Amino acid sequence: MKKIVINGGRPLQGEVTISGAKNSVVALIPAIILADEVVTLDGVPDISDVASLIDIMEVMGAKVKRYEDSLEIDPSQVKNMPMPYGKINSLRASYYFYGSLLGRFGQATVGLPGGCDLGPRPIDLHLKAFEAMGAKMSYEGNAMHLATDQAGLHGAVIYMDTVSVGATINTMLAAVKAKGRTIIENAAREPEIIDVATLLNNMGAHIRGAGTDIITIEGVDKLHGTRHQVIPDRIEAGTYIALAAAVGKGIQINNVLYEHLEGFLAKLEEMGVRMTVSEDSVYVEEQANLKAINIKTAPYPGFATDLQQPLTPLLLKAKGQGTIIDTIYEKRVNHVAELAKMSGQIKTDKNKIIYQGPNDLQGAAVKATDLRAGAALVIAGLLAQGQTQISNIEFILRGYSNIIEKLTQLGADIRLVED
Ligand code: EPZ
Repeated sequence: MKKIVINGGRPLQGEVTISGAKNSVVALIPAIILADEVVTLDGVPDISDVASLIDIMEVMGAKVKRYEDSLEIDPSQVKNMPMPYGKINSLRASYYFYGSLLGRFGQATVGLPGGCDLGPRPIDLHLKAFEAMGAKMSYEGNAMHLATDQAGLHGAVIYMDTVSVGATINTMLAAVKAKGRTIIENAAREPEIIDVATLLNNMGAHIRGAGTDIITIEGVDKLHGTRHQVIPDRIEAGTYIALAAAVGKGIQINNVLYEHLEGFLAKLEEMGVRMTVSEDSVYVEEQANLKAINIKTAPYPGFATDLQQPLTPLLLKAKGQGTIIDTIYEKRVNHVAELAKMSGQIKTDKNKIIYQGPNDLQGAAVKATDLRAGAALVIAGLLAQGQTQISNIEFILRGYSNIIEKLTQLGADIRLVED
């Protein structure tokens, strides 16, 4: 087991470059199954979720080559084989194989997805959409079996009861080669959805409206190869902006699309964070006199649930009392108990997080219970006096590309050690 050890209290300075978006690439890789030719992705982050997806693709027969941050995938020999166990169960995004295998072969047998524990994470909307398009569903042991009759999938009008990133993307994956027109109503509008639609359209699909709440897909027979640049990771960017405001003495964050972060940047401004936002970078100054604020997460373009945990250490530095309500995942509060171990004045009350600042955090032995809770602990460890040891760091490595190297370059005293 590995641990991250941080000797905190050092001011950080310099530049950091944001990698390609995890939540895009974990959908883009399964989407490539729908093509008949080689697809190359550029700007692929070096994270363990990508390594797991490559393993799964290779088991299915894809030929994968990696050159630095590019990934060349030849899906032409992919076979439709049952994949009930293994890496499939280790990540949430494996649910995208339901949509892409159904789209290509008209059937799929895929194990249930894993991922971070954020409370209940149902996939009923994904399954309802597949059923509306003509798929029949049954459980085979630990796996979900989805199949169509000889006619294959057909277009349908699908209203999403809840705004869901995964269900919107999965429906697009199943619909691009279905017969006829599919309309997704109350679709999610996250930038990752536009990124997946862009890749699919460049492969020959006909998708209109991605980024709005109505997406229309006209099915096509064949999809071809292409080359695609993955969008920058807005959640990694937000994490480094929060980190820079917490422990920076002037940090420039490059490869940031600020339009993807407006809900987050507006709340930082409300706290009094001094920063300069440019076309593709954000410069964060050293901060003083930050104010406590209230946060309520919402689907895009609202304040992203994935950023409430990484922002929490900065909130603990601010003066006054504030609350965080996560309307997407009510139980996304695992970081609270760990930050309290570091002497943070923070607690939960039903579905609300309540904090009081400013705090002088102290180093402690803490556990990364999920990806973004792990990011919060890294920032808290950099901010705290003394040593912080973070266990369960596999979660962090699933989503933050080269985090140790990036932070070391900014001057952090941070190491990965074998426990
Ligand atoms: C995506 O998860 C992200 N994961 C999550 O990123 C992110 O927190 C989440 O979107 C919300 O933005 C990936 O992209 C791989 P949802 P997803 O379906 O798509 C409910 C991170 O830290 N819902 O948009 O699985 C659900 O319970 C993470 O990078 C249903 O009720 O989330 C939630 O309340 C973790 N039924 C809401 O919708 C369904 O069938 C939004 O979830 C599906 C979802």
